[in-house]
Amino acid sequence: MEKLDWKNLHFGYQKTDYNIRCYFRNGKWGELEISSSEYVNIHISATGLHYGQEAFEGIKAFKGKDGKIRLFRWEENAERMKSSADGILMAEVPKEIFKEAIIKAVKLNKRFIPPYGSEASLYIRPLLIGTGAEIGIKAADEYLFLVFVTPVGHYFKKGFQPVDMIISRSCDRAAPLGTGHIKIGGNYAASLPSLKKANDMGFSSVLYLDAKEKKYIDECGPANFFGIKDNTYITPKSPSILPSIINMSLIDLANDLGMKTERRKVEVEELATFEEVGACGTATIITPIKKIVDKDKGKVYEFSKDSKPGPVSTKLYHLLQAIQYGDEPDKFGWIEFIE
Ligand SMILES: Cc1ncc(COP(=O)(O)O)c(C=O)c1O
Repeated sequence: MEKLDWKNLHFGYQKTDYNIRCYFRNGKWGELEISSSEYVNIHISATGLHYGQEAFEGIKAFKGKDGKIRLFRWEENAERMKSSADGILMAEVPKEIFKEAIIKAVKLNKRFIPPYGSEASLYIRPLLIGTGAEIGIKAADEYLFLVFVTPVGHYFKKGFQPVDMIISRSCDRAAPLGTGHIKIGGNYAASLPSLKKANDMGFSSVLYLDAKEKKYIDECGPANFFGIKDNTYITPKSPSILPSIINMSLIDLANDLGMKTERRKVEVEELATFEEVGACGTATIITPIKKIVDKDKGKVYEFSKDSKPGPVSTKLYHLLQAIQYGDEPDKFGWIEFIE
């Protein structure tokens, strides 16, 4: 393979050697298959293509100073993929198949795991798609579960540096009783126009509000939202946000650091009272937010005036990464080693 510039990887697709596939047919899952093709052969009438029967996950594997490979909280991703499958009537992937497939995908592509110190990781993308042919609106009776991996660096170009975001009032990513709480492709398709608009205006991402009242903060495009004030970690509670595994982990870390934590409705105006705000997720890790523009209300909320990440975000970021790379003990039992 051509030599990868580990320190300058961005969050993009990079071809690796193998991916893993498993088919659900006649009511049961088959054996895992190893493939070196980047393509799938899919029926023209597959429900995944027409009716959005598709769900995915994002997990990271890290190489530590000791050379060991660490997988972060994969069981939570397995559970979330089950709830995504339930939410759009797809066959659930059993936990054992999920685990075996991701571990196999990592092991077979070991040479793509970024070295310790590069701040990069191996991103694992499990994918579940309806492959059965239907033309009426109906759940498929055949599915493909596929896992591929790709080495990635920071999601936002600047790395661990504050970014600017814009509040969206003209577009929602998910309906109040819709599918925002599960990780299915349709949610992301719905967010593309507002994301492009925000990017064109120079913002890194969009901050979505609750779709019904446009009063409360929901989440950022690819990540959950959090705010810090008075030694308290505060994150929105809403039925239409994706339950982030990193957010869940940061709540545990904040509690462990002696901070208070709250998961509750967060009104947009409350932004004015936060000392620090940020986005969090597997891909974005912690991305501090420097400025949030509420164009329709003519308001600009500014944080980190010196353009540096705030002290609490910095502490949480380093602590989380230290656990992921194995520099801090895994006292919460979040790591699974891959031999
Ligand atoms: C919409 C959305 N919110 C939040 C997250 C963060 O979730 P996690 O921390 O489990 O990666 C993601 C990424 O998976 C996402 O796509």
